[in-house]
Amino acid sequence: RGAARILVASNRGPVSFSVAGDGSLAKRRGGGGLVSGLSAIGPDAGAVWVCAALSDGDREAVRRAVAEPGSRMIAVDPAVFADAYNGIANSVLWFVHHMLYQTPLEPVFDAEFRGQWASYETYNAAFADALAEEAEQGAAVLVQDYHLALVPELLRERRPDLRIGHFSHTPWAPPDYYRLLPDDVAARVLTGILGADRAGFLTRRWADAFAACCAAVLGAEVAEDGRSVTHAGRTTRLGVHGLGADGDFLRERAHRPDVAERIETLRAEVGPGRRLIVRVDRAELSKNIVRGLLAYRRLLHEHPGWRSRVVHVAFAYPSRQDLAVYRDYTAEVARLAAEINDEFGTADWTPVLLKVDDDFARSLAAYRLADVALVNPIRDGMNLVAKEVPVVSDTGVALVLSREAGAFAELGEDAIPVNPFDIEATAAALNTALTLPEAERAARTKRLADASTALPPSRWFLDQLTALGG
Ligand code: G6P
Repeated sequence: RGAARILVASNRGPVSFSVAGDGSLAKRRGGGGLVSGLSAIGPDAGAVWVCAALSDGDREAVRRAVAEPGSRMIAVDPAVFADAYNGIANSVLWFVHHMLYQTPLEPVFDAEFRGQWASYETYNAAFADALAEEAEQGAAVLVQDYHLALVPELLRERRPDLRIGHFSHTPWAPPDYYRLLPDDVAARVLTGILGADRAGFLTRRWADAFAACCAAVLGAEVAEDGRSVTHAGRTTRLGVHGLGADGDFLRERAHRPDVAERIETLRAEVGPGRRLIVRVDRAELSKNIVRGLLAYRRLLHEHPGWRSRVVHVAFAYPSRQDLAVYRDYTAEVARLAAEINDEFGTADWTPVLLKVDDDFARSLAAYRLADVALVNPIRDGMNLVAKEVPVVSDTGVALVLSREAGAFAELGEDAIPVNPFDIEATAAALNTALTLPEAERAARTKRLADASTALPPSRWFLDQLTALGG
């Protein structure tokens, strides 16, 4: 029995290590909404953040007993980790939750899948063991995301005294789609999460879909108000916590010298007097970067007046590149960007400025200069970029936003909505965004920034702790 009163568990932790040329360990902050949300907790909150060793550098850090303050990394066998993270979490579960499987991209449930699923169970059990060991009597444990769906149930078996929460940072698919998982796996993921006292989601839509899956797959009973699910004699409450942007942090961070430097570079690359359509994403299928580029190409065809007067700035940082499906997608993005530049580019105008690497200061520079922000995911749990851009915008920004992003529930009224599959409509939305009158754009940006910072990460976290009671 350990001494931690509050525990957080997630696959990706606050930092990841790599071994530098001289043998020392270099660390870097992880990308994605989950780490952005949880980073606000900080070591002072007295919480212990249990995460997985993701890389050789991380495993080396575990061997040398180097850790970020307030966190503990667990190093499972690399082959088990690869099966659980790449095989199950980021191939199957990510694709089901975001509804990314569409013919001809189909799931394969063969012997290899079964082997990976066994690893996923082992990996979840390793987390349950570590949490059971660290937690003091009656502690609160907040388990994060689809990598760890089985942990609440496994942890309750080991430590019935704990208060357990689970939070999903992804969408949740409705039953008709969710049931493409093998029956036993579909049931196990649900009962795993129902091992928690509370299951949290980013929007009501995902919480309702989860409840509907519990009813359809398990025959569980959903309360009339949709706020709890009862299965096998236990009731799990469902909560909605719409993670917002950290306004204070972003405004301060966006005005440091490294961002000012990148603003100069970006201005020089774009050229004087041109409008900027900005997008920043992990290079990943659910973000729909390819259709965004196709819509931009269409815009240049349909409205030739924009040629040479606009630049599409697309920053995509590589994500999950061990998997061919993610690598191929990144390559397709690069290929299409080059094709558009070949088709329309001139001696002094590059229509698409694509960068495929990770530079947070450069992203903030683009946010500040954006005339239009393009956020068109096929489906997204929340999408924090949509919330971050209006907060730091210098000039006011028009937000083109997919109605399939969780953020749409909060920002939809002041955004220009798009169906992410409709390239023609997206091109039209880009044109509307570029021509939005300045006063209108400023007023919308102000409202977007207010809505985006309504629930900053520190309060998002505290609300969940409070709701868990104790
Ligand atoms: C999404 C997931 C997070 C994940 C992040 C980055 O936001 O919900 O759990 O950490 O993507 O993905 P990665 O695979 O690099 O951790």
